[in-house]
Formats: sequence, C-alpha cells, structure tokens
Amino acid sequence: MLELTGLTAGYHGGTVLHGLDLTVDAGSVHAVVGHNGAGKTTLVHTVAGLTRPSAGTVRIDGREVTGQPAHRLARAGIGLVPQGRRVFAGLTVEEHLRLSHRPPRRGDTARPGVWTPARVLELLPRLGERRTNRGADLSGGEQQMLALARALLGSPRVLLLDEPTEGLAPVLVRQVHELVVTLAAEGLAVLLVSPSPAQAVACARTLTVLTSGRMTLRTSGEDARADPTALRAALELTATDNG
Ligand SMILES: Nc1ncnc2c1ncn2[C@@H]1O[C@H](COP(=O)(O)OP(=O)(O)OP(=O)(O)O)[C@@H](O)[C@H]1O
Ligand SMILES: [Mg+2]
Repeated sequence: MLELTGLTAGYHGGTVLHGLDLTVDAGSVHAVVGHNGAGKTTLVHTVAGLTRPSAGTVRIDGREVTGQPAHRLARAGIGLVPQGRRVFAGLTVEEHLRLSHRPPRRGDTARPGVWTPARVLELLPRLGERRTNRGADLSGGEQQMLALARALLGSPRVLLLDEPTEGLAPVLVRQVHELVVTLAAEGLAVLLVSPSPAQAVACARTLTVLTSGRMTLRTSGEDARADPTALRAALELTATDNG
C-alpha cells in the first residue's frame, strides 16, 4: 500500500532522513518511534509532500508519487494528522469539517474508505456535541479528534499520524489507539508516529525505531510485546525509564 525505498530528505542541504525503507500494508498499523529530533516528523512530511525528498521513492499501491506536492498526494490517498493538531482557533468544528470534506470522484463512491461529515460524526460523536464550538474552545482531546476528522474527510488510503496522543490523558490515549486500530481494520494503511514504545506496541503490527534518521530496529508488534528488550535497547532506555 505505502512503500518507501531509500527515502532521503533534509533541510538546507543537511540530511535528516538517511535512506529509509519502510512499508505499510493496507489494514495494518506501522509505528515509528524515536527520540526528539530523530526525524519522525521529517519522514511524515516527506511522505505527505510537505518536504521534498532528495533521493528514494514513495509508492502508493505500486504507483510512484515521489516528490509530488501535498495537494496531489492528498488526492493520491495520503491523509495527514499533523503533530500539534493544527486546528484553526477561530473556526468552528462544523466549519473545519465542511472545509476538509473532499467529495470523492465519480465511480469512487462505493469504495469503503469514503468519508462524509456525517460518517465522521458517527465515529467521533463528541465532535457532534461540539459542532458550534471554535477550535480554540476545544480540549486537547477534542482538537485531536478534529485533526483526525479533517484527515479522514479526504478519504485517504494511507493515514499518517504524527504523535496523535501527545499531551493527552491516559484514557484519551487509549481511545486514540482504539480508533487507530478500528481504522486500520477497515482497510487503511496507518503510519503512526508514537511518543513511546509502550504506546507503539499497544497497537502496531510492525515497529521501526528511528535513530538520527536511520532505522536501527524493525520488529513485529507481537515480538515486542512478548519481549521488549530489543526495542528498549534500540532506544537506549534504562531500567528506570518508563515508556
Ligand atoms: N523546517 C526545518 N528546517 C530545518 N531543520 C529542521 C526543520 N524541521 C526539523 N528540522 C531538524 O531536523 C531534525 C529532525 O526533526 P524532526 O522534527 O523530523 O524530528 P522528530 O523526530 O519529529 O522530533 P520530535 O520528537 O521532537 O517531534 C532536527 O534536527 C530538527 O532540528
Ligand atoms: Mg516530530
């Protein structure tokens, strides 16, 4: 579904992401973990077309889309939930939903991954209750739901989530994980940047540890759940670190 080969990207001539290979299958969650500055957001931005790769390829369903601008990639099936949510303070929930809705092209309506504002509100009923509230008046959890709603309204095939649980209370973290697993079960390919290995193993089929822009570990969620030693070692966590 999403296939990255040798993906290399950076800023102002400096390389941040060094030749990353990574695939996300439809119906599964691939989590990426790594310390601050490891290049997780750079990875997500490069896939979403917000940063241009200097080498490597991005393929969606086998079709190469490398280096295309963000609006083209959105049409090709990439949905992004950005780090920090980025909702508009002055717009209501309803206005966000209306502006984000991209009606499917003709012939595409039967596809199971097609989203409408009504379907989004069924999945995220809290947003319905807050319909007339402005972005600035929403709680962190509600803003996160709104950011997810905006991405879904583009009817993506690949969903990129950049630390969607950052700053949320544990009960909301669990809710976000449940949503992510539900969306993957419906056939989406989900690339989840996770703030902690514990959160990543909770919902991922595959995990990648990114260290200074390079993959230093790839493991299955199942193996990491059974024995997190390798995962913790790759992140250089000590016994007293939680995560
Ligand atoms: N727009 C930018 N211009 C220049 N350098 C940048 C830019 N964005 C990120 N960087 C640099 O690229 C490196 C990777 O940053 P990135 O934001 O991808 O890391 P991250 O893993 O997402 O970190 P965090 O966990 O803090 O979100 C860092 O050294 C950062 O300073
Ligand atoms: Mg980041």
